[in-house]
Amino acid sequence: MLEDLKNLQNNALAEIGKAHDHDAFEAVRVKYLGRSGELGKISEKLGSLSQGERRVLGQAVNEFKRVVSGALVSKESEYVRSSGPRVDLTLPGIPPKAGHLHPLTQFMRRVVGIFERMGYEVLQGPEVETEEYNFDLLNVPKDHPARDMHDTFWLRQKVSNSKSEIRNPKLLLRTHTSSVQLRAMLAPKTDESLARGRRGETRKSPVRLIVPGRVFRHEATDAGHETTFYQCEGLVIDKGIRVTDLFGTLKTLLQEIFGSDVKMRIRPHYYPFVEPGFDIDIACLICHGRGCSVCKQSGWLEMLGSGMVHPQVLRNMKIDPRIYSGFAFGLGIDRFMMLYYGVNDVRLSYSGDLRFVRQF
Ligand code: DAH
Repeated sequence: MLEDLKNLQNNALAEIGKAHDHDAFEAVRVKYLGRSGELGKISEKLGSLSQGERRVLGQAVNEFKRVVSGALVSKESEYVRSSGPRVDLTLPGIPPKAGHLHPLTQFMRRVVGIFERMGYEVLQGPEVETEEYNFDLLNVPKDHPARDMHDTFWLRQKVSNSKSEIRNPKLLLRTHTSSVQLRAMLAPKTDESLARGRRGETRKSPVRLIVPGRVFRHEATDAGHETTFYQCEGLVIDKGIRVTDLFGTLKTLLQEIFGSDVKMRIRPHYYPFVEPGFDIDIACLICHGRGCSVCKQSGWLEMLGSGMVHPQVLRNMKIDPRIYSGFAFGLGIDRFMMLYYGVNDVRLSYSGDLRFVRQF
């Protein structure tokens, strides 16, 4: 019987050697190891044997099972490895790529956060603006060069006679967020679109608001200029607001962002909507005042325009300049961001190049 078992094992191994798919493996398993298979027939005979014979044969049966099922398993895994797609379930997975906010958005939120902590209201206005809000109500003279086609993106409109011109005001892509100063004051407080002429209570002094947003200029691009960029406008109106309030506020902003040792420079500058008007510079953080392409070799970077709100603009806002005063400012988010991170070309922000964006 031992001899039979030996032959059976050789046959089984030979068949395993020839088997090449799952069905064949299963057939061998059933034929040799199954309950009613070849091994079953031999095991049945165990009962009729003497104790000694039974022990010897029992061991041989176990050995048969071990050898045959071992051979089956290794042949099967060899088959799995060599066929079909190779999947290694032990490899780590591919981590999903998480995006993040653009450095400009991150920076805008920082600036907004600083003013929110100082109690400012945050407003947004339309990017397509009327000439009235962008220029007229801000006291910009009719012949001011900023209104020129070379500076401003005017929208092409089908306006032919003067009557329809009143109904269809001239439209442009806003050149600054200052236009929202007027919208904020002339629109009902509850109107999110800041449209004028609807019913409801308008904003009254005291006013403290900022307007973060995108603006557009028709100009040649270089390391420091883009046709599209971001500003944050500020407007404060109350009784007894003075120029020192303006300087203190802007100094606080600059220190919050660039640290307490930031160097600030105040220069008188003409803006039609303020009187007096100022430009606020900080020492170029890229070249530390030595002069580079970003600061146009001057060592200083213009960060903000600002000033005391012009009496005529206050009147346009329906605010009495004999009782109230205010300050306004407009800052370039792009410049702030570039200086903060040490970016030397404003165009990188809009290039869509992920190698740039992923660094922040
Ligand atoms: N609107 C100006 C610009 O885009 C910036 C500016 C200057 C805003 C003075 C102001 C201001 O509110 O008072 O260049």
